[in-house]
Amino acid sequence: MTSPDDNLTSPDAPSNPPVGPETSAPPTGEPSQAQHPAVPADTPRDEPASVAAAAGGQEAAAPSRVPAPRAPEVPTFEVTLRIRRFDPERDEEPHWEDYQVTVHSTDRLLDALHQVKWEQDGSLSFRRSCAHGVCGSDAMRVNGRNRLSCKSLIKDLTPEKPILVEAIKGLPLLKDLIVDMEPFFQAYRNVMPFLVTSGNDPSRERLQSPEQRARFDDTTKCILCAACTSACPVFWADGQYFGPQAIVGAHRFIFDSRDEAADLRLEILNDREGVWRCRTIFNCTEACPRGIEVTKAIQEVKRALLTRKI
Ligand code: SF4
Ligand code: F3S
Ligand code: FES
Repeated sequence: MTSPDDNLTSPDAPSNPPVGPETSAPPTGEPSQAQHPAVPADTPRDEPASVAAAAGGQEAAAPSRVPAPRAPEVPTFEVTLRIRRFDPERDEEPHWEDYQVTVHSTDRLLDALHQVKWEQDGSLSFRRSCAHGVCGSDAMRVNGRNRLSCKSLIKDLTPEKPILVEAIKGLPLLKDLIVDMEPFFQAYRNVMPFLVTSGNDPSRERLQSPEQRARFDDTTKCILCAACTSACPVFWADGQYFGPQAIVGAHRFIFDSRDEAADLRLEILNDREGVWRCRTIFNCTEACPRGIEVTKAIQEVKRALLTRKI
């Protein structure tokens, strides 16, 4: 019924784990010594009870035993996941299928998807790895908006109605919630997302002031999840546009004072499929699970192209 991953909680989840019948303390059972050391609560920490009693000239009173407080039950509820399924070996077109799952109010969408896969239909396919918003592999479209399933609490997804889950848009659909990410990664590779320097290697670190570092701090947070690019209507149109993530990736090095290839990257993005195709729609900024100001970064690259000043 449960798996090791079921114990994963979102950063927003309460610290108390769900308490099931098998883990809760018996209501009338004896509390353990570790839970209730036989020392009255008002005894100073480093003074044994017997010493405290002797100091007052009285015999130590028997410590009272208080039943262990029960952790509050985490509520459960039923939810319908409406998942857009596609098996290239069987289906001509994707179709929607409904799955009923019982979830805790602390569960994330990823937990519910695991429940479907492990308990109802093992053929359901989706990517995930870290389960904690770091690897960027589980971006999907949920109720029409791009999200990471491991960062989306079910209770925040209007669970009283079926929750629509489908693959991100604009990239070739392979199976169920899995798309071919290669065009997305190719656009990233095209902007040379690595430090370019000339001359001999220095004998010490390449120094940078806090102000210089701050210029590109925001764009260092990208986890390559593609939520931004696959939320952009310009990218949906023909898939030729570099897309917001590639521009974010370029921004991270263009504004790095240690890098020497800013002009080259700017020229790459001066392409007809580059930054000028951005229509400032802001879907990318809204979709980014890392809170990166994607549209602002694109605007900074446009300005650098116009002024030729970094
Ligand atoms: Fe994901 Fe944000 Fe990076 Fe886009 S910019 S790939 S949404 S982390
Ligand atoms: Fe697309 Fe974002 Fe520009 S959604 S049009 S890249 S502001
Ligand atoms: Fe890694 Fe969600 S599984 S970001």
